[in-house]
Amino acid sequence: MNVLGIETSCDETAVAVYDSRRGLLAHALFSQVKIHAEYGGVVPELASRDHVRKLIPLIRQVMEEAKTAPADISGIAYTAGPGLIGALLVGASVARSLAWAWDVPSVAVHHMEGHLLAPMLEPEPPQYPFVALLVSGGHTQLVRVEAVGHYETLGESLDDAAGEAFDKTAKMLGLGYPGGPALARLAEQGVRGRFAFPRPMTDRPGLDFSFSGLKTHTLTTLAATEASLQDKADVAFAFQEAVVETLIIKCRRALKQCGFQRLVVAGGVSANRLMREKLGQTARKEGYQVFFPRLEFCTDNGAMIAYAGCQRLLGGHTEPPEILSRPRWPLDELEPA
Ligand code: KG4
Ligand code: ZN
Repeated sequence: MNVLGIETSCDETAVAVYDSRRGLLAHALFSQVKIHAEYGGVVPELASRDHVRKLIPLIRQVMEEAKTAPADISGIAYTAGPGLIGALLVGASVARSLAWAWDVPSVAVHHMEGHLLAPMLEPEPPQYPFVALLVSGGHTQLVRVEAVGHYETLGESLDDAAGEAFDKTAKMLGLGYPGGPALARLAEQGVRGRFAFPRPMTDRPGLDFSFSGLKTHTLTTLAATEASLQDKADVAFAFQEAVVETLIIKCRRALKQCGFQRLVVAGGVSANRLMREKLGQTARKEGYQVFFPRLEFCTDNGAMIAYAGCQRLLGGHTEPPEILSRPRWPLDELEPA
């Protein structure tokens, strides 16, 4: 089964073709970073307009690369939420229109399920069940995963998502948008041990997170220095280490609570090098396995949407003929595949 995947929930227009037998045939994305950079964050209306401009040419390009004609496509998967409503509607309208024109089913994919399943595109994918840590710009969640569609949220952020905390802290340090990768780069120049940042909510039981206090901590720490480049790098180092260690403490707790030996980490922040290194070390030491998507599939992409949609279509999923977009959509509300 060949599935065309379309992702337009935020600031990347992304498309892929996934074949249930041969795997991923082609994928490409158009990043809107340059468009939003001068505003210091995503401007929803500009995002929607650019998806309108880029989506159809990108579909043409990816289908050519996949050597796939419309007649070879058996279904169209699109991100139906969560995300920016205008941006979501572009993908939903194009997906449903193509599905109608090509007389194939379409399937509304949950963006975070896409992230959660992204490691399945790797040569050695995890087996079920596992604990998933989803860390993106909009969400930080620990999920117990039994199978596709069998999700139980174990904990989540009560305020800022981890990626959002990276982005906001990067802004305070005078770094551009998107802030996460820029902050991680600056942290490489930082000196360990100069500043002590808290590990929020780790001293009490539970699997929820809170990252907004780290922003205030960054602000007061920075204000007590001359804000030189080295000062900023040291603050970035301490901030990054605090977020990563907090996430790891909660992952270990979740694995213990579920009695599982496999951890999946996905979403934009799973591209963070310190996070990958530290989790790799801890996993080896403590005897569990950790799975990440390849770097380009940590952040938003079409491949994860095509893969997730394909699993749902293989499970016999059908959809009523309406254009479905849900800017808010709890992962727990998904039906089993
Ligand atoms: O999953 P994603 O592409 O989009 C959402 O679904 O939100 O995640 C984007 C988030 C942004 O907040 C970005 O700053 C963060 O992931 N991010 C990183 C890194 N790469 C992306 N954060 C820390 N370190 C990175 N290397
Ligand atoms: Zn995402």
